[in-house]
Parts: sequence; structure tokens; C-alpha cells
Amino acid sequence: MKKSSLIIVIFSILNVSLYAQENTGKVTIYTDRSGNKISKHIYGHFAEHLGTCIYGGLWVGENSSIPNEKGYRKDVLNALKRLDIPNLRWPGGCFADEYHWMDGVGPKEDRPKMVNNNWGGTIEDNSFGTHEFLNLCEILGCEPYISGNVGSGSVEEMAKWVEYMTSDGDSPMANLRRKNGREKAWKVKYFGVGNESWGCGGNMRPEYYSDLYRRYATYCRNYDNNQLFKIASGASDYDYNWTEVLMKNIGGQMNGLSVHYYTVKEWGDGKKGSATQFSDNDYYWTMGKALEIEEVLQKHMSIMDKYDQDKRIGLMVDEWGTWFNEEPGTIKGHLYQQNTMRDAFVAALTLNVFHKYPNRIQMANIAQIANVLQSMVLTKDDKMALTPTYHIFEMYKVFQDAVYLPIDIVTDRKEIRGRQIDMVNISAAKKNDIVYIALANIDLENGRNIQLNIPQTKINKVDGRILTSGKITDHNTFENPDLINPQAFNDAKITNGKLKIKLPAKSIVVLEIK
Ligand code: AHR
Repeated sequence: MKKSSLIIVIFSILNVSLYAQENTGKVTIYTDRSGNKISKHIYGHFAEHLGTCIYGGLWVGENSSIPNEKGYRKDVLNALKRLDIPNLRWPGGCFADEYHWMDGVGPKEDRPKMVNNNWGGTIEDNSFGTHEFLNLCEILGCEPYISGNVGSGSVEEMAKWVEYMTSDGDSPMANLRRKNGREKAWKVKYFGVGNESWGCGGNMRPEYYSDLYRRYATYCRNYDNNQLFKIASGASDYDYNWTEVLMKNIGGQMNGLSVHYYTVKEWGDGKKGSATQFSDNDYYWTMGKALEIEEVLQKHMSIMDKYDQDKRIGLMVDEWGTWFNEEPGTIKGHLYQQNTMRDAFVAALTLNVFHKYPNRIQMANIAQIANVLQSMVLTKDDKMALTPTYHIFEMYKVFQDAVYLPIDIVTDRKEIRGRQIDMVNISAAKKNDIVYIALANIDLENGRNIQLNIPQTKINKVDGRILTSGKITDHNTFENPDLINPQAFNDAKITNGKLKIKLPAKSIVVLEIK
């Protein structure tokens, strides 16, 4: 080793141990090395016909005693509007590959019922269908992302759905839509050709799915001015072969390729652990598992790079989030789980990972928007509670379409699942001359003093908000919905053009620096 390298190594060891002792950290943000825009679409959501996500969560129907706007719950609508939702994926998930869209249009009294085989055998009355979903997207001001049925649906059925939604001409499906009360076509850009085709979407091999994709995608036409962005059904977390085969066989036919990654301990009934009762060790394990998404995505991205050097195809992480045991008393298969400060950390850490790959990750959809898995809102009858995850999405919305900024961080680390993990996890970006920085202090016990430096930039003003709580297991309930709520953060001080930040233990802070 050269003498100079040896000195650097000694210095960095000293640096880390010095900070470790004092629980301090040093962060440098490079505004001059700014990269690509973080697509707002990584802040996407997912609404599936599963448990009470749609019925009771988003939709109560016009005749409900729960206050609603044309059938959509008012409390939930108002909460979701504050998130600036960029896109919403629907109708599944696994449900998508058993969904027959024609059953969900036309007069409600004529719509047939079906059994929701994937999710508890619940009877689905199809009262929430294509019109109800696309109108919801208009109210929320977001782009729809439709998942088409490859598993049990025909090519004709999928082709006609696209025509029904997007054709403005004198075509049979456009006329049927008009008869059903909608004159103008909707704009639908994002269209998924199947979901989890390796599993609930048909148990296929990647070679077979590739061929089916070619066939189904061929007949998903661009009508009038509508331009579809076709997304192939991608891999489950560590299945790199699925990505390899799809990129090789159908890379030229797709605009996006999905991947699903859940922060889950162990698959199987009752094995995932409680959402609210967990030890400190469980918490740190979850942080490690959430952060592992970066390595998994890197592997998928390097396969994509092999076949698509220009990064034309987007990686769409169209399902991600925590998956714990259902809350006691939940109908089996309804996947209703509570949401604690631990979930807020998973959300913050995962979004920080997505920010780092803006030239490949074009979309992500947390699962799911209401009452299922890592939700934004929980509802019970006429009550609603916002989750800690909701608050992260609201605090982080400033990162939507901001330009990613590289950072250096020196802080102490902890060994989790065999890996050294920084105790402070940070992301920075710039929009309209404002630098935004998110800092998550993962440590349950110790606060951190962070010194933040932005070379060649004079810091004049800083504002911030913090999300924290007394216990990591804390969560909002219908009885106490505001236990966890963002507060103003006043512990970032400007001294000689630098920022000194006092981060409490287990806290997440978003700063706005001018
Ligand atoms: O989000 C719940 C389910 O998880 C989805 O329906 C499916 O795609 C995935 O396995």
C-alpha cells in the first residue's frame, strides 16, 4: 500500500471511531455534481381489491352515511390530496389476473358478483370498476396505472379494455363507454401486461411469459393521442433469472419492467411477526432487510444495463413495503396491519435508495394505499387514522421531480444482518434553488450531532420538520390518531455558513435549505 493511501485509511478509521464515540456525523452535499431528476412517479401508490382497501377504505358508495363525494370517502380523499400522488396502480396485484373488466362497467345493479379467490374468498360486487377508478384518479390529479389480466383473461378482453378507456373515435368500445356515461376518453399511460406472472398471475416460466407478453402487448393499441407505456410483469426480489430472460426476449417490446420487494421476515401464515409488538433487535433486522433492497435493485439494474445500455427501459418497483402478520381479528387474507414508527423508517430508507438511481428507477408503488400492508390511511367505519408512513410520504413530497444530489457521509455504523449500516441515512436533492435533505437517525438510543457542509454555497435559511415518537412501536389509532405527527424542527443552526443539526434518537427530519 502506498504511504498516502495508508494515511487516508488511518484517517478514515480515526474519523469513524471519533464520530462513533461522540455520536456525531459529517455530511457534505455536492450541489455542483448534481445528477438526474428523481421521478415523481417513485412516489406512486397501489390500490387493490383486497380486504378493505377499496370497499371501506376508498369507496363507500353514494348512499353511505359516511361523508362521501360521489361515493369516495371525503376524509380519505382530503388526506390523499395532500400527498400529491403522481400515479395509482389498480386493480391488483393478484386480483388483476382474475379481474374481468366488463363485469365492472354499466349499471351497478346489472354488474355480476365474483369471488375474490386470492383474498379471503370475499364476494366482490364490482360496484367499483373502471369508471370509478379513473374518475378517482382525476379527482386526485394522478396518472392511472392499470394492471391487465394475462393470467385468466384473453387477448381480446385486454385489447377491448384499452379501447374502452382510451379511444375517442367511433369505435365499438368507445361507444359502449359513452353509453355508460363517459363521453371523452381518459388518458391512460401506464399499462401493466400481467402481474407476478411467475406466481399468482399464472405460475409461468419466464420464457413462456415472454411469448405471451409479445402477443398481449401487440393488441394494446395507442388510440388517438393516447400513448401507452407498457410494463412487463417483473421478478420477485431475488429472482434475477426472470429479469435476464425478459430483457433478452422482450426488452425491445417493453417500456418498463417491474420488480417486487417486500420487507418481510419469513413467508408463511403467522411467521411475519407482529406489526406493533417487536423487540429492538426485530427493529434493526427490519432496517437491514429494508436497506437490502439496494443490492437487489442493483443486481436487476446491472442485468438491464447489459441489454439496454441507453437506459430506455424503466425499472418499476411497483410493489414494495412492509408485510407483517394481520392484526388479530382480521378476516384471513385481508392483510390489514398496523403501522408504527418502524414502518416510517422503512419508508424513509427505501425512498432514499430509490432517489439514488434516477436514471433507471422510473416508478415505485408502495403496497398499499388504504387498510392493506404498509398503508397511508387506516379506516374503521367513519373513522380514519393517518399512519406514520403517510407522514413520511407527505414530508418527502418535496423530492418529487427534484434533482438528485450526491452526498458524502461519515457517521458511526452498526452491524446488522452481517452488514455495516450507517446509523444516519441521508438523501439530498435540489428543486427551484432549494436544497432538500432528509436525515433518518436509525439509532434507538442515541441522538446525533451532524455537521452539514454544502461547498460553494452560503446557507442563509433553514426550515425543517421532524417525525419521531417516544417508542419505536408507537402508532396512531382511531382513539389517538395524532400521537405521531410531524412537528417543526428547530435544531438545525447555521454557524459560519455551515449547518449544525441535532438529531434525536429514532427520528426522521426533512430540511429545506435556502
Ligand atoms: O400486495 C399484496 C400482493 O402481494 C399482491 O396482490 C401481489 O402482487 C403480491 O404478491
